[in-house]
Amino acid sequence: MRKKVTVVGAGFVGATTAQRLAEGDHCDVILIDIPDKEGPTKGKALDMMESAPLLGFDAHITGTADFADIKGSDIVVVTAGVARKPGMSREDLIGINANIVKSVSNEIKIHAPDAIVIMVSNPLDVTTYVASQVTGFPKERVIGMAGVLDSARYQSFIAMELNVSMRDVNAMVLGGHGDQMVPLPQYSTVSGIPITELMDQATIDRIVARTRKGGGEIVNLLGDGSAYYAPSASVVEMVDSILFNRRRLLPCAAYLNGEYGLNDLYIGVPVYLGPNGIDEILELKLTDAEQQQLRDSAEVVKATVAEVSL
Ligand code: LAC
Repeated sequence: MRKKVTVVGAGFVGATTAQRLAEGDHCDVILIDIPDKEGPTKGKALDMMESAPLLGFDAHITGTADFADIKGSDIVVVTAGVARKPGMSREDLIGINANIVKSVSNEIKIHAPDAIVIMVSNPLDVTTYVASQVTGFPKERVIGMAGVLDSARYQSFIAMELNVSMRDVNAMVLGGHGDQMVPLPQYSTVSGIPITELMDQATIDRIVARTRKGGGEIVNLLGDGSAYYAPSASVVEMVDSILFNRRRLLPCAAYLNGEYGLNDLYIGVPVYLGPNGIDEILELKLTDAEQQQLRDSAEVVKATVAEVSL
């Protein structure tokens, strides 16, 4: 039997994620949104199904507004919520998105109690914390997608700057999914060679600054809404590692209980992702400056969590 992945929210991020999963023939996909959007949700799912003969996949995509349909999901990806508009920070979304995430988390708890939850809604580290609290699932089964996206942006900027293949670039971004994120030049390489050997400090600083504002750059260009091509590809990378037991080492928002000197919050750190979710958190050696940046980023996450009544 094919694995089953639910995508909650049939907006741009959700629909693109469903499309990428189906086209990869990774799993059957349930695409779910609120009853008001049942028609468009079913329409998108059916449209994707009708592309299957052309693209050659057998994955089945179902559009629905009924949470009973998510029963038996191996993974639930939550993209529900509003996106930023130009001039807004991700943290500005918490008022609206916390309530949406609470209600979705309740439905997941009821209908898919064994699922691994991947959060995508912003502000990411905070919504992941909320989902963890509301579902009560083991911490390793509630994970936030952000580090993979932030690292992909960082990698693409490095490859474009050096005019090298995207395939040869590996990079690591820690911290919250906000402007305080912590790109790590010492752990970012081109075919194993740290970028600190390949670029001067001013160039690295420019790329790091662009990475931190990477989501906002897209928001400003789109004018209405936020990125979805790279975010959906990032989700698929995580889903793939879980479904196919790859144990990829990926930066994800994970619950910290003393790791990196931080407690009781979700924030981006490198984790091994396997069939049970987070197998293990890797504690990297950081410079004092990087550790301080991570603490600063954690402060922003904690302050936003404090705005949510749980
Ligand atoms: C971004 C949004 C999705 O970084 O947070 O593009």
